[in-house]
Amino acid sequence: MCGIVGYIGDKQAQDVLINGLKKLEYRGYDSAGLAVYNGSVKVNKAKGRIDQLETLLSESPLEGTMGIGHTRWATHGQPSDENSHPHLDQSGKFAVVHNGIIENYLEIKEELMAKGYQFSSETDSEVISHLLADLYNGNLVATVQEAVKKIKGAYALAIISEYDPGKIVTVRFDSPLVIGVGEGENFVGSDIPAILEHTRNVYILENNEMAVLTRDSVEIMTVDGSIVAKDVFRVEWDMVQAEKGGYEHFLIKEIHEQPRAFRDTLASRISEDGRRVVLKELEQGRDLLKEADKIFIVACGTSYHAGIVAKYAMEQLARVPVEVDVASEFRYRNPIITDRTLVIVISQSGETADTLAALRESKKQGARVLAITNVVGSSVAREADDVIYTWAGPEVSVASTKAYTSQLVALYLTALYTAQVRETHSEDEIADLISGLQQLPEQAEAILEQKGQIKAYAEKISSHPSLFFIGRGIDYAVCMEGSLKLKEISYIHSEAYPAGELKHGTLALIEEGVPVVAIATQPEIYEKTISNIVEVKTRGAHVLGVGTEGDRELEKSVDETVFVPKTHPLLAPALSVIPLQLLAYYASVARGNDVDKPRNLAKSVTVE
Ligand code: F6R
Repeated sequence: MCGIVGYIGDKQAQDVLINGLKKLEYRGYDSAGLAVYNGSVKVNKAKGRIDQLETLLSESPLEGTMGIGHTRWATHGQPSDENSHPHLDQSGKFAVVHNGIIENYLEIKEELMAKGYQFSSETDSEVISHLLADLYNGNLVATVQEAVKKIKGAYALAIISEYDPGKIVTVRFDSPLVIGVGEGENFVGSDIPAILEHTRNVYILENNEMAVLTRDSVEIMTVDGSIVAKDVFRVEWDMVQAEKGGYEHFLIKEIHEQPRAFRDTLASRISEDGRRVVLKELEQGRDLLKEADKIFIVACGTSYHAGIVAKYAMEQLARVPVEVDVASEFRYRNPIITDRTLVIVISQSGETADTLAALRESKKQGARVLAITNVVGSSVAREADDVIYTWAGPEVSVASTKAYTSQLVALYLTALYTAQVRETHSEDEIADLISGLQQLPEQAEAILEQKGQIKAYAEKISSHPSLFFIGRGIDYAVCMEGSLKLKEISYIHSEAYPAGELKHGTLALIEEGVPVVAIATQPEIYEKTISNIVEVKTRGAHVLGVGTEGDRELEKSVDETVFVPKTHPLLAPALSVIPLQLLAYYASVARGNDVDKPRNLAKSVTVE
């Protein structure tokens, strides 16, 4: 989730670009850079904050009235000067900024290296500048069109070239891009805030569209070259709303970003034929994955809940015993670690002190540690033996949503990869789950369409003092996350309970009108879950059932239902959690809370 800005006009591009990048700072980044054309393309870029780039620019300014700028949130390659954008080709004629992930970059890189192209970064993005140089046919726009035919993945691109000065060429596929229309000047941005200071008239590019900007014109076409007649969109939002992409809060924006986060986290980790998981990140630790007799999963809060889902997936798919621990407990309980123990730590931020301490303790005792994290170069990523990144993009809202579901995807991939290594499942069974993973983005979109109904339910329960989430097996793991989400942002007390355990005491708290959210997505324990739902209904509970599309029995057993699309039972948590996130969000809004900054919480808990 990097940021892009581009400018062409009569002002000094450097100033416009730096201001634009500053407007994107809220999204998080680890490095920044500019390319400006003035007879030739010159680049200044650096790891760190925009201030550092400004210091560089004060020493060697980039003069010129057209250019592109970028803030990078590392995915492929650590945050570093070399990995920062813009990327030039070897001859320095093309400069490219890229948001998204090029899935087939290794393949393209190998081909280009065989032809003698030398790469100066570890990024996926750099392949684009060399590819443009390789394909250049005397026409910049046509060359970009040829290049995008070769790349797979998600991209928003802004490109300038010495061969065709006076033009910025932009393309979009699965990564947002907007074009700002001015007078005698035009702009490009990955988000509206980047350009809002200059213009409220924008074109919003759709997938497979490109825009060619000159000082006085914007031409929009498809990547096949057909001209697109598009209406200008007049932005009526203020700056604060624009940062949130028109949503009222970052939390709801991030909930809506989950389909994209699913796609990115899966990108380039599945074989072309869709039958195998490819996790290069785990190749070095492959022997231990094969031989391990115990896996510990250690994390805090929401990440811990992702770990509980992973226990089910790992044990079922890879047939290896898994223990899940809260990080603040793990290190003090003298866990039994041998040379056949793998420890998986999960941390969105990669900086959580308890998780880091557990990681260090595990390493001290000789365990190999695999980290699942969202932040490249974070402490957890640096100190672990192996790392799988969740490509959720920066999460601004304190309550974790898209990071959690991306963790689930990364953990499913890990479980499937381990199953491949341990040969515990047939290729057909693995391919079936992979196909399920690939359907998650669209299925998540379908759930988001039901938000109106969930909002109405949330408003109803928002005045209740307490609520229960019940479910069995992996559904119970989702209940724990739903309950945490509700507590932390709506401040309504709630408890997650294994549905079969209620009768051992807690049923005493169920009385007329108590709201209960019951998840029932697991066929193997479905009838038992329904019996538990009937137990609470009989005592007067008002039950919202979260089930699988077409489940008429659930509909008959509860007061209200929300359905999620059918998927493999192990993957259901990645979908069934979404209505619970929406429930927590709308309950928080109904109670007038500060949704993105709930009381007493921090985004990154760096104290023990
Ligand atoms: C809840 C939440 C926290 C974090 C926990 C661990 O929405 O965000 O419970 O999950 O503090 O944080 P990370 O994953 O950064 O280690």
